[in-house]
Amino acid sequence: MKRTRISKVLESAKTDANVCVKGWVRSFRNDRFIALNDGSCLSNIQAVVDREKMPEGLLDKVTVGAALSVVGQIVESQGAGQKVEILVEKLEVLGIANTDDVKKTIISPKRHSIETLREQAHLRFRTNTFGAVFRVRHTLAYAIHQYFNKKGFYYLHTPIITGSDAEGAGEMFKVTNFDLKNIPHNEEGEIDFGQDFFGKETNLTVSGQLEAELGAMALGNVYTFGPTFRAENSNTSRHLSEFWMVEPEVAFNDLQDNMELGEDFLRYLIQYCLDNRQEDIQFLHDREVKEESQKPKNERNEMSLMDRLQFVAANEFIRLSYTDAINVLQNSKPYKKKKFKFPVEWGTDLQSEHERYLVEKEYKKPVIIFDYPASFKAFYMRQNDDGKTVAAMDVLFPGIGEIIGGSQREERLDILTKKCKDFNIPEEHVWWYLDTRKFGTAPHAGFGLGFERLVMFVTGMTNIKDVIPFPRYPKNAEF
Ligand code: 4AD
Ligand code: MG
Repeated sequence: MKRTRISKVLESAKTDANVCVKGWVRSFRNDRFIALNDGSCLSNIQAVVDREKMPEGLLDKVTVGAALSVVGQIVESQGAGQKVEILVEKLEVLGIANTDDVKKTIISPKRHSIETLREQAHLRFRTNTFGAVFRVRHTLAYAIHQYFNKKGFYYLHTPIITGSDAEGAGEMFKVTNFDLKNIPHNEEGEIDFGQDFFGKETNLTVSGQLEAELGAMALGNVYTFGPTFRAENSNTSRHLSEFWMVEPEVAFNDLQDNMELGEDFLRYLIQYCLDNRQEDIQFLHDREVKEESQKPKNERNEMSLMDRLQFVAANEFIRLSYTDAINVLQNSKPYKKKKFKFPVEWGTDLQSEHERYLVEKEYKKPVIIFDYPASFKAFYMRQNDDGKTVAAMDVLFPGIGEIIGGSQREERLDILTKKCKDFNIPEEHVWWYLDTRKFGTAPHAGFGLGFERLVMFVTGMTNIKDVIPFPRYPKNAEF
């Protein structure tokens, strides 16, 4: 008999039919009730066994973590907690779970800290929390493709190995196949990358934007969705060394259009999850409520997970220029009471404490800050007429900080060429990028959404390492 996913059995709740389900044992109570989970949904199915009818010794192998195949009739459940259950006719143990080993792992039935779970990333999928997180992650990824497809965007696969540093921050992982014990040097004593695999210096991409711009200048509306890599040595709860970025790029869009797209996109994705991942979000919500109740009152979230998601999906974001943001901050209580650690001054970048103040205290909703000083933004951002600011935008979310960073792009060749010089970007590295400004250049804009930061927001998880299956961060590349 073909297997049916447990989610389907529970959804249809059709009794009397015979089914085969396969999954892993979550618990085995009273020598009679097996809770089986196959990952298709949060809920387990209850399989009811009669020891008398089972071959001798078989049920001794039914321990937490074991993989089973169960065939039986779906009947209305006598117990509370589930509509239907399976009366087991045939049971097969596909893989035993050694009980002594299980005790040492996170799949033992007791509660484990999120940090302990992280140390066993190969097993944490088996927990309710991580099952829910990764189903939400999937649903968000699916919704992203759906959103763009509906809007006529083309999915563009930009390279993972590149020769350029799009962000100009120099935080790149090198790609080479040199024998590290014997790296060739030229006459000047510099590394001779001409002899390396690609005949030039290459690295893992920090962003697909520059290549996406090339696509947008022909296909009109494109987006990338792929892994990006940053060798920043910041081991924070919001940074990964390998993370996924979604980067739409649209020909003929200006900064206003870009802000509208970013807001519409985020609100759509959150609403989509509320509509399609109800059970998992409810579970994560309940989990958070339990955790929050153990914190001192002044440290608790003002809104519950469900409320936060509904609120963001339903309400417009605040839009504020950088200059206005500085004014608001300089008039704020924490500024006047000297509570901010970092200075608030026109021309310096906003720190996380400032962003959090604006989003969580001043406006209590997502905020888009635009028109930043050119001095600390990337070379490709369009220069505004004031000569001091660029048409940049950051979307800030409660509890997360920056979730999107983007801009209108500098489409004027002369200004862009000068910017390259100012930023010490050799023209021979970006000639192909500059070329788009020579052949029918046009205004265009785009942004990058940090996918894991979005998953954090939707799941309520507070550490970015817990929303990606196998996190990469300084001093850690296990699994
Ligand atoms: O602001 P960033 O650096 O922008 C870019 O890379 C542009 N090229 C995007 C574009 O305009 N197409 O990064 C974009 C987003 C940030 O807002 C943040 O959400 C996320 O990527 N991000 C990270 N997420 C996890 N770990 C890190 N180390 C991240 N660095 C950036
Ligand atoms: Mg940024």
